[in-house]
Amino acid sequence: MTMPLEVRDLWYRYPGSGEDVLRGVNLTVEPGEVLAVVGLSGSGKSTLCYCLSGIVPHIYSGNMRGEVLIKGTPTTSMKIPQIATRLGIVFQEPDTQLFSPTVEDEVAFGPENLCLSREEIGERLKTALKLVGMEDFRLGSPNQLSGGQKQLIALASVLSLDPEILIFDEAMSQIDAQGKTAIKEAISGLKDRGKTIVMIEHDLDNLDVADRVLLLREGVLQPFEGRL
Ligand SMILES: Nc1ncnc2c1ncn2[C@@H]1O[C@H](COP(=O)(O)OP(=O)(O)OP(=O)(O)O)[C@@H](O)[C@H]1O
Ligand SMILES: [Mg+2]
Repeated sequence: MTMPLEVRDLWYRYPGSGEDVLRGVNLTVEPGEVLAVVGLSGSGKSTLCYCLSGIVPHIYSGNMRGEVLIKGTPTTSMKIPQIATRLGIVFQEPDTQLFSPTVEDEVAFGPENLCLSREEIGERLKTALKLVGMEDFRLGSPNQLSGGQKQLIALASVLSLDPEILIFDEAMSQIDAQGKTAIKEAISGLKDRGKTIVMIEHDLDNLDVADRVLLLREGVLQPFEGRL
């Protein structure tokens, strides 16, 4: 069976750096699984996200060895737009992901770039906003939302591309308690819909939504035994 996400003996070194940040990562994420990856600051968690989402090697070059497979296809043989319809990524800081004047424009941006029909774009917009519980904010400006609500819109803008896999890189670290609850509820709802999820966390209190937890330590992925 083809797995949503597989990493095979992955090593990565940033351009100009003398040291590998990822050192032999192996990972299989199963369909519908919520995998959490924890680790100290600097352990390589964001770098792993960049590799999972094709940002490495398509945007950051450097020295990558090994393979990342999205639904069986190596990221090296896919282009970024092709990856984006299969795998979406939500970052720590929602402001870096939002750029449109209205919520509606923001969430429709991806599907518009896929050149889908008006009807399909409308459906995708409605479904994505519903999945994050933000239908009522459709005509508002992202600027007027709380940090947590902005993060939900960033998530909706990824969901409107209908990816099967979602990566959250410490998506709950800069938002209030209410926002965290909303993101966790969204993650559980997405799991129920069969999405495969990798969530990077440093706050161990947010791990209750995960099916499995792994620890990244100095670029090596290992079982998590309760302590960073
Ligand atoms: N663009 C870059 N060029 C060179 N080195 C980098 C670059 N980005 C990150 N690094 C280095 O790679 C290592 C891992 O960084 P990374 O951001 O992946 O860690 P992290 O686990 O996400 O940390 P945090 O919890 O603070 O987000 C660090 O030593 C960092 O300095
Ligand atoms: Mg990081």
